[in-house]
Amino acid sequence: RKKIAVMTSGGDSPGMNAAVRAVVRTGIHYGCDVFAVYEGYEGLLKGGEYLRQMKWEDVRGWLSEGGTLIGTARCMEFRERWGRKQAAGNLISQGIDALIVCGGDGSLTGADLFRSEWPSLVEELVKDGKFTQEQVEPYQNLTIVGLVGSIDNDMAGTDSTIGAYSALERIIEMVDYIDETAKSHSRAFVVEVMGRHCGWLALMAGIATGADYIFIPERAVPHGKWQEELKEVCQRHRNKGRRNNTVIVAEGALDDQLNPVTADDVKNVLLDLGLDTKVTILGHVQRGGTAVAHDRWLATLQGVDSVKAVLEMTPQTPSPLIGILENKIIRMPLVESVKMTKSVATAIENKDFDKAISLRDTEFIE
Ligand code: F6P
Repeated sequence: RKKIAVMTSGGDSPGMNAAVRAVVRTGIHYGCDVFAVYEGYEGLLKGGEYLRQMKWEDVRGWLSEGGTLIGTARCMEFRERWGRKQAAGNLISQGIDALIVCGGDGSLTGADLFRSEWPSLVEELVKDGKFTQEQVEPYQNLTIVGLVGSIDNDMAGTDSTIGAYSALERIIEMVDYIDETAKSHSRAFVVEVMGRHCGWLALMAGIATGADYIFIPERAVPHGKWQEELKEVCQRHRNKGRRNNTVIVAEGALDDQLNPVTADDVKNVLLDLGLDTKVTILGHVQRGGTAVAHDRWLATLQGVDSVKAVLEMTPQTPSPLIGILENKIIRMPLVESVKMTKSVATAIENKDFDKAISLRDTEFIE
């Protein structure tokens, strides 16, 4: 019987539970034993009770649960070879040689590295006397499949990551609330949203709420000049009769000299324009709450495909990342997607913002 483990890693995102549910039930459907790794890579390092076999009914009701019920962590030890060796030992002890990881690009890169090192880790475990050659014989290769769970929607090669639309929904709900009080007082609000180095949440929230102005890393504003432009835009909207102003700032926003643009910087400019201005940092409410329909079906379809991928893979198949492109669930080599994601960061570092935008596949940022 094939034994598969599923884990969530990095920042939680709505829809992770739906993904785990789909993996557990699809695995059982195909006659596999499915284990959940609790607490992300930390659980993999600890082993034992952190790896629990899941039954069909264990994931009942998980579609509508927010966060991740099997826990997650940002684990430093897994970045070290000794940590990955310990994790390999724990998987072999349970007879597991396939791992489905739902997380962001860092978690997935770690998983792929784990796979490439696996044969040498197994060899070392035998040398260390932890296992005999006979015991490790069936576990010569590790299968890794990646599901992208992140609210940031920052992974190249896939149109949306599990959790991004839920976070977006939360943001626009909050901005709608803010707009109501802002209009009452004729105020301006600067709303800071998450997204790390990616402007997708800010961009989409700006469009969905009709914000006056947005700041994102991929379309860096001109150093020393954006202040006047912002004032001009907000004033123009006021002149047309708008009673409030909403400016959305991505937490990773930059100017074109790569200086951060913070919510307070923006607030000071609006105060200078004479607007009664407040700042709201939405913070972790963006990650909370139940998943919207998009993330539930995305996680479910991708979870199903991740199990199929495990069953179809050979040791030669590159670790796949399950994505969605033009409404179709697709598989692409995980390393390719990570490489493309990293090249966006490099383009921004090189101040090549046009390239950053084209690499994000979000044509309408223009
Ligand atoms: O990657 C998801 C994310 O929510 C980012 O948008 C944010 O920068 C970061 O995680 C916050 O991390 P933490 O929850 O560890 O503070």
